[in-house]
Amino acid sequence: MARTPARHFLQIPGPTNVPDRVLRAIDNPTIDHRGPEFERLAHELFAGLKSIFKSTDPAVIFPASGSGAWEAALVNTLSPGDRVQMTGTGQFAALWSRIAGRLGIGVELMPGDWHHGADPAEVEVRLAADRRGKIKAVCIVHNETSTGVASRIAEVRKAIDRAKHPAFLMVDTISSLGRWSAAMTNGASM
Ligand SMILES: Cc1ncc(COP(=O)(O)O)c(C=O)c1O
Repeated sequence: MARTPARHFLQIPGPTNVPDRVLRAIDNPTIDHRGPEFERLAHELFAGLKSIFKSTDPAVIFPASGSGAWEAALVNTLSPGDRVQMTGTGQFAALWSRIAGRLGIGVELMPGDWHHGADPAEVEVRLAADRRGKIKAVCIVHNETSTGVASRIAEVRKAIDRAKHPAFLMVDTISSLGRWSAAMTNGASM
């Protein structure tokens, strides 16, 4: 008979398992999503998200898988025929590029070796060469869970500004946001 392990230690989502206290919280009875308790919870979450993003701007909650968030981010900000700059940092960047292509968005890929993050200098050169502003967004996976490669987002942002390019920066922080946010609060650098 096949051996069934007592517990499957699955490190999904992201490079960690789901903590026990989160698993226990999921075990709570459902609350009325139109009731006052849910309203309080939603307000608390919207406020808490701002501190995680370290932003005073409104944060939006969009229930979906990571791939769903990729698609929503693309279809809500871009149109078929637009172009985006993607970076080859690993499998998730490759999948995000594929979704963009299926939505009719032109993908300009900065090829990578899956060992290094996005190169801010290359982003700057490519955007500076795009004199007609065809590139509408630069898309980067912050922490490539598939390869463990991290990109220096703040430096990429500065590179876009130096190129004086109007493209906006779209970042997948699916496996990094809480961790980096906590690290920065504790005074560590990215
Ligand atoms: C960095 C990153 N982006 C995107 C995804 C895709 O998320 P999902 O499998 O929920 O579609 C993952 C999944 O682990 C991920 O780690």
